[in-house]
Amino acid sequence: MTPETAGGPMSPERLVAEARAALARAHAPYSRFPVGAALLAESGRVYRGANVENASLGLSVCAERSAVFAAVTAGERRFLAVAVATDTERPTPPCGACRQILREFAADLPVYLAGRAGDHETRTLGELLPHAFAPPAEEGRTTFGS
Ligand code: THU
Repeated sequence: MTPETAGGPMSPERLVAEARAALARAHAPYSRFPVGAALLAESGRVYRGANVENASLGLSVCAERSAVFAAVTAGERRFLAVAVATDTERPTPPCGACRQILREFAADLPVYLAGRAGDHETRTLGELLPHAFAPPAEEGRTTFGS
């Protein structure tokens, strides 16, 4: 399925190509596991993210989170799809923390997963993060309290 955006259709293959371009910018000298992400906003814009590691290892940030933070900082709140690219033989799904970060802005979303070559696999965020802890507003609450 090709998501329709305000700027026209965006094929999964194009979004995967964006994620692969982001992967090339990863800073992953410690794990040597570069990851690239590309997040498609309803506006039609694509936000890239790469993992950025640090000598203080726990400070490293995943590619998916980099992409979400870049998009939200640019004013986006609604998303249509995300692609994740790794330099591995088999595609790699996003870590649990990144699933939760994506879930803040999208109840469900196609997730295209691509390894170093070949076709991508498609999952959905709902499939990857079932029974999620959702933002309070979705549950009709304005606070965490009641
Ligand atoms: N990483 C991501 O960028 N995204 C994920 O979903 C899983 C892990 C990064 C974090 C770290 O820089 C490297 O991959 C190895 O864990």
